[in-house]
Amino acid sequence: MKRTLLLVLCTLLALPALADEGMWLPSLIQSRIKEMRAKGFRLSAEDIYSINKASMKDAVVSFGGFCTGELISDRGLVLTNHHCGYNAIQALSSVDHDYLTYGFWAMSPAEELPAEGLFVRFLVRMEEVTDRIAAGETPDEIIARATAEGKGYRASIEQMYYGNQQFLFVYRQYDDVRLVGTPPSSIGKFGGDTDNWIWPRHTGDFSLFRIYAGADNEPAAYAPDNVPYRPRHHFPIDVSGIEEGDFTMIYGFPGSTQQYILADAVDYIQKCSDPVKIAIRTARLDLMGAAQQSDPALRIFYAARHAIIANPWKKWQGEVLGLERLRTAERKRAYEQAFEAWAADKPAYRTVVADMKQEYQRIIPIFFNLEVLSETLGTLPMPYPTAEREDPLFEARRPTERALWQLALNEYAELCRGERQLSAVREGIARWGSPDAYADHLFTLAADDPQQAELAELKQAIRTDIDTLRNQLGLKVVRNLHSARLNDLYAVYLRGLQEWDRERAFFPDANSTLRVAYGSVAGYEYADGEYHKPLTTLDGIIAKDDPTIYDYDIPQRLRDLYASKEYGRWGTWIDGRYTVPVCFLATNQTTGGNSGSPVLNGRGELIGLNFDRTWRSTMSDLEFDPTICRNIAVDIRYVLFVIDRVGGAGYLLDEMTLRK
Ligand code: ARG
Ligand code: ASP
Repeated sequence: MKRTLLLVLCTLLALPALADEGMWLPSLIQSRIKEMRAKGFRLSAEDIYSINKASMKDAVVSFGGFCTGELISDRGLVLTNHHCGYNAIQALSSVDHDYLTYGFWAMSPAEELPAEGLFVRFLVRMEEVTDRIAAGETPDEIIARATAEGKGYRASIEQMYYGNQQFLFVYRQYDDVRLVGTPPSSIGKFGGDTDNWIWPRHTGDFSLFRIYAGADNEPAAYAPDNVPYRPRHHFPIDVSGIEEGDFTMIYGFPGSTQQYILADAVDYIQKCSDPVKIAIRTARLDLMGAAQQSDPALRIFYAARHAIIANPWKKWQGEVLGLERLRTAERKRAYEQAFEAWAADKPAYRTVVADMKQEYQRIIPIFFNLEVLSETLGTLPMPYPTAEREDPLFEARRPTERALWQLALNEYAELCRGERQLSAVREGIARWGSPDAYADHLFTLAADDPQQAELAELKQAIRTDIDTLRNQLGLKVVRNLHSARLNDLYAVYLRGLQEWDRERAFFPDANSTLRVAYGSVAGYEYADGEYHKPLTTLDGIIAKDDPTIYDYDIPQRLRDLYASKEYGRWGTWIDGRYTVPVCFLATNQTTGGNSGSPVLNGRGELIGLNFDRTWRSTMSDLEFDPTICRNIAVDIRYVLFVIDRVGGAGYLLDEMTLRK
């Protein structure tokens, strides 16, 4: 009876790595090759990752530490997203050379622009060091030895499965990276925040950089006579086009997922953390939005901040919808109960779930406090930097900035009460009579009297508070709802799960290390009776085009090309229309950090550039649903079309390896 019940529960509720779920470690990809080949992969594990010969990993880079990029020529040409290159492009821009607005195309190597501070990292190798550490070698010793192996080497040890396995990652970092080309924002950020996280999508979210090296091909600080880096491998480009069902593989650096967290943690995220953060950000975005509406100069000023606040804000909304739809917490709870029933007679695992729940009870208020701090007081400049205060625009910003201070103080006082509230804030509110009045006073100090000790004291009090809370969690860095004790418990829980749930293919949570995901080009049923096709085209861009709406105002050149149909070699017949493909959907599991990742076909050729996910799939960080989770990529043919026909930089195609 017990057995049968368990089996039924498992088949109904278990969350196995079915379909296209998963972000796999490249060095262990052999275990997935059979399934990948069944889906259309034509190469071997050695082609993906090898330390003996050139392999695909040699053409993938961590771009700046927060995105992914890929090599597309034997002269160090790197493709990544526009939103990944954004800061570098902005830093290189000026009023006279506004590359964000107008785009930029180097017409020769001499015109490429060094992007100061930008770096890329190649993975040299990865290896499991769990045993070495168990045998007494310290992580610091292992890292120091690996770093000494070569020029530009960096190393880190990362935990998989909450530390049940530890892996050494050795990287080689190149610091001379130059901007080669970028479309204008009206292509690279087409649709702006309106279309962000949304399908159908029409964003040409790409930019091009080049890695430079010393004459010996080794990493070197910027120097005018550095030469283009010669990679061990670069991706050939498949320009023959894609179809629904085609195999896709993504190779990149996903940032963070929490696949194995308990239902209690999901509940916190879905019912508390996300809604509270969404509400606070909605109010902030409203204030900025009103300012933007009122004054064109303010519209530009707040644009970047608005985008930074809106990106996670919109993601969280999709995440909540996705978790509700999937009933993730409910399903996880049933899964945990089934596990507990199995573990009842196993001393190693008997109490682990209960212990974790208890620890969650303890840390949720602490973590919530930290989240509230960072979403409220943590957003306030204490004081405003001199350059900002002296900016002529600062006068026009005052009412908005004052309102932002008031909002933050009110939200903080409301959400963080009693003992937890900073005494400085409690006293300030009492002294000035209300959060509004106190906020007003502080704003005036931050804007007009930046030397004031009171401001510095408040800032210090916030820092001390954060340190105290962090210590209560026992963590050096706080990221997700987590604590040192939870980490130990999860390590035990994961061992138990792996013993119990033998059908499930376990993959380690994303942690900014290199991963492989595979799947296929696929549309999905967005709503009852509403199927979303996996491919968009230039016709969709033209349909959205509207010179009166900032996000949808395309370059005249694109309108002209559409009118004349002079698409060159990039014109294609799709559903009876002569057009150019723009974006496509696939079933790969991706997350933040996967932006800029290569989307590859079964022969390891580039077919697209990953940059986003669809609205309700962002809960894939907690639970992946193959029926609805989709990643969004720019079709490589649109990238080449823009370089060639819009940018007039077709000469760059000569160094690429194009395949029909
Ligand atoms: N949502 C994508 C990712 O998380 C792209 C964001 C950039 N685009 C934008 N309109 N803000 O980062
Ligand atoms: N847009 C994300 C990034 O910048 C990717 C995602 O969350 O799907 O990495």
